[in-house]
Amino acid sequence: MVPQTIKEHTEIFMKRTKWLDKNHPQHRTANPEHSQKTAFFGYQKVPEDKKAQRVLQHFNTVAQKYDLMNTLLSFGIHHLWKRSAIKTMTLKPGDRVLDVCGGTGDLAILAAQTVGESGRVIIYDINRAMIDAGLHKMNHSLSKKRIGFIQGDAEQLPFPDGHFDATMVGFGIRNVTRMDQGFKEMCRVLKPGGKMMCLEFSKPTAPVFRWLYDIYSFHVMPLLGELIVGSRKAYMHLPESIRTFALPDELTAILKRVGFSQVTEHKLTNGIAMIHLAVKG
Ligand SMILES: C[S@@+](CC[C@H](N)C(=O)[O-])C[C@H]1O[C@@H](n2cnc3c(N)ncnc32)[C@H](O)[C@@H]1O
Repeated sequence: MVPQTIKEHTEIFMKRTKWLDKNHPQHRTANPEHSQKTAFFGYQKVPEDKKAQRVLQHFNTVAQKYDLMNTLLSFGIHHLWKRSAIKTMTLKPGDRVLDVCGGTGDLAILAAQTVGESGRVIIYDINRAMIDAGLHKMNHSLSKKRIGFIQGDAEQLPFPDGHFDATMVGFGIRNVTRMDQGFKEMCRVLKPGGKMMCLEFSKPTAPVFRWLYDIYSFHVMPLLGELIVGSRKAYMHLPESIRTFALPDELTAILKRVGFSQVTEHKLTNGIAMIHLAVKG
C-alpha cells in the first residue's frame, strides 16, 4: 500500500515501529513455555528450526562492515556501553571469561585487558565470518595471547559445568532461537557465585526520545545499510529484532527462572540499551 495522506503515512509508521507492550506481549522468544515452535526473525514469525539459518545469513551479509556500521549508527556510543558493561562485571586478574555471541570481539578485548596475563577469554560465536571480521583487532591487541575462539551455538556450550568465572553476551541473545536455553547454558558453565552479564538493546523510556529513535531506526538505519553494506533489508531487520525482544523486567524474570539470582538492571542512554547483571546460585 502506498500512503496517500499524512494520516495513512502515520498509521503505517506506527504499525512498523510497534514496540513490545508489557500487557500485550507479541514475542515468543521470552516465553519458554510456548507450544507452537515458532520464533521471531525481525517481525516475521518463522519455524523455530529455520531461525538459526536466517540469523546466519544475516550476519554473513553484515560481517565485513559490522564494526563500521556499529560505530556509525551509534555515533560511537556502543564503545561506551561496552566499557560500562565490562566495568559492572568487576573482573579480576586470572579470571576465565566466556563471551557468548562474541562476534568481532569488542567485549572480549576489553575483558582481556582486565583479566591480565593469567586470565583467559573465549569468543564463542556461531558465525565464522563474524569471528574473522574481528581477527585484525586481536592481532593489534595487547591481549592477543589471552583470547581464544570457538565456533558454535549458544544453545549448546561445549564446556564442563562450573568452568568460567564470568560469562557475557553482548547484543547477541536476541538472535538465539531459544534464549532461555542460551541463558541456561551460560549459567551451567559458570562457577557458583560467578557473574553473567547481558548487554542488549531495549525500549527507550521517554516517549519523545523513543519517537525520534523510531524515525531514526526505520529511516536512517536502513538507508545507511543500503549505502554502506548494500542491504537495506539487513538494517531493517535490526530495528525490528530490537522491538520484538523482551522488556527488561521480562528478561530479569527469565534469568531468575533459569537459575540466576541477584539480577540487577542498568539502563544506558535512556534505555536504548540495558545491562543485566546476574549471579549464579
Ligand atoms: C550483533 S552481533 C554481536 C557481536 C558482539 N558481541 C558485539 O557486541 O559487537 C551478534 C552475534 O551473535 C552471533 N550469534 C547469533 N546466534 C548465535 C547462536 N545461536 N550461537 C552463537 N552465536 C550466535 C552472531 O553470529 C553475531 O556474531
